Amino acid sequence: MVKFVRTMTALAAIAAATTPSGAEDAAAKGRVLAQRLCATCHMGPGQGEKRAQGEIPGFYAVARRPGQTVDAIMDWLRSVPPMMPNHHLSQDEMQELAEFIMSLKDEPQ
Ligand code: HEC
Repeated sequence: MVKFVRTMTALAAIAAATTPSGAEDAAAKGRVLAQRLCATCHMGPGQGEKRAQGEIPGFYAVARRPGQTVDAIMDWLRSVPPMMPNHHLSQDEMQELAEFIMSLKDEPQ
């Protein structure tokens, strides 16, 4: 039993060291999706918060909004906003995109 526990502890340590956490993994997938689907509108160099009607906020600015959450971003995507192309995103894709956007919060722009 002791040996089994030791083996499991060692395996858990290896798993923790080699696989990214769930959120990081989702964010990495979301980055690939965002570069393909959203970058032309939301990932321009230096793109900040929208300052006027009809402007598009950059993802860095979206992530830095006070109180912003993964859930709030998912709600937005789930609403299929009429000002954006309908990308027919799956639930998982919405989550990955939202995790990616939030991962930009503390990243220098
Ligand atoms: C053709 C341009 C275009 C594309 C492509 C696009 N968006 Fe948008 N996005 C917009 C516009 C326009 C708005 C709304 C700006 C406004 O009126 O506040 C917006 C707003 C947003 C917001 C902010 C919502 C809020 O609370 O203000 C998020 C988050 C967002 N888009 C995510 C995405 C994601 C994720 C993708 C890719 C799957 C994407 N967008 C692709 C144009 C686009």
